[in-house]
Amino acid sequence: MNLNIGVIKGDGIGPEIVTEAMKVLDQVGKTYGHTCDYTQLLMGGASIDVHGVPLTDETVAAAKSCDAVLMGSIGGDAKTSPWYQLEPSKRPEAGLLRIRKELNLFANLRPAVLYDELKGACPLKEEITKGGFDMMIMRELTGGLYFGERRTVEENGVMTAYDSLTYNEEEIRRIAKRGFDIAMKRRKKVTSVDKANVLDSSRLWRKVVEEVAKEYPKVTLEHMLVDNCAMQLVKDPKQFDVILTENMFGDILSDEASMVTGSIGMLASASLNETKFGLYEPSGGSAPDIAGKGIANPIATILSAAMMLRFSFDLDKEADAIEQAVSRVLKEGYRTIDIMSEGKQQVDTEKMGNLIAGYIK
Ligand code: IPM
Ligand code: MG
Repeated sequence: MNLNIGVIKGDGIGPEIVTEAMKVLDQVGKTYGHTCDYTQLLMGGASIDVHGVPLTDETVAAAKSCDAVLMGSIGGDAKTSPWYQLEPSKRPEAGLLRIRKELNLFANLRPAVLYDELKGACPLKEEITKGGFDMMIMRELTGGLYFGERRTVEENGVMTAYDSLTYNEEEIRRIAKRGFDIAMKRRKKVTSVDKANVLDSSRLWRKVVEEVAKEYPKVTLEHMLVDNCAMQLVKDPKQFDVILTENMFGDILSDEASMVTGSIGMLASASLNETKFGLYEPSGGSAPDIAGKGIANPIATILSAAMMLRFSFDLDKEADAIEQAVSRVLKEGYRTIDIMSEGKQQVDTEKMGNLIAGYIK
């Protein structure tokens, strides 16, 4: 099979971690008889430096013509980078929001898994994490506060800013269906997270999710208020299977969920639309403070490449091979600095990529 993959290396540690993921993909190609054709795409700060904007129309068109896009990370240090002297609509993050919208990537899957081998890095007490946990956050990605009307105006001499949170029932229905579909392949539980005790958008969310739930009688649905969910994630993360939530809540809860695993450098993500196309990226950010040092953890990006093989190309065996290679490297005690602990062997970004590629079977 020929895989037509767009690659956004991006900013900060992006180029380093994507290079390792491409190495692993190439090895998968060799082992399983596929070829990977990469189209390099500029987005974020890297695009600002060349084109003056974080995403061009040409790049959007080029991304659309690929089967899937693998991405590193975008953005720099807001205090020191000249990108943040620009108006908000020209900053790196605006490129990411635009590509999500242009490609209609409304379903964002963020798995948060506690790896047995990395239990030591988990900040929660052992009595809480015993037995591990494995949840999937299904975050709506193209609606809500992120894309509502916004403006800053002076009203009677007082600066006032508006951001609006809008959802229509169709937007809620399509993400809810995705949430239930994925729950059917897992432990068949959906926790729908909202703020229905305050927000109208949440009350509509709850109503539509309940309607969708009727089509999935095998799935248990529960509703949880977002503030309670933030608490439950540290109190009892094992209770969660699929967390289904709107854009802003999902942004916040997914950072929290990844932190409680103790290994944000390990967590992949996929942003999907109605077709097989997807944008795959690590859950962590561009980490400008360690960029260029060769010490970033490439595993989240490598696992994102595995998600890409699974969701966009239906190559399950190949995706399994990547996940097994990652497990093996961890079992053998290799660690990048972010997940290092006593008695383990510390390796750099490139070595980690080489080890994983070497274990592809
Ligand atoms: C994420 C990020 C983005 C978001 C930023 C960079 C705009 O935090 O993917 O979670 O808020 O969606
Ligand atoms: Mg975020």
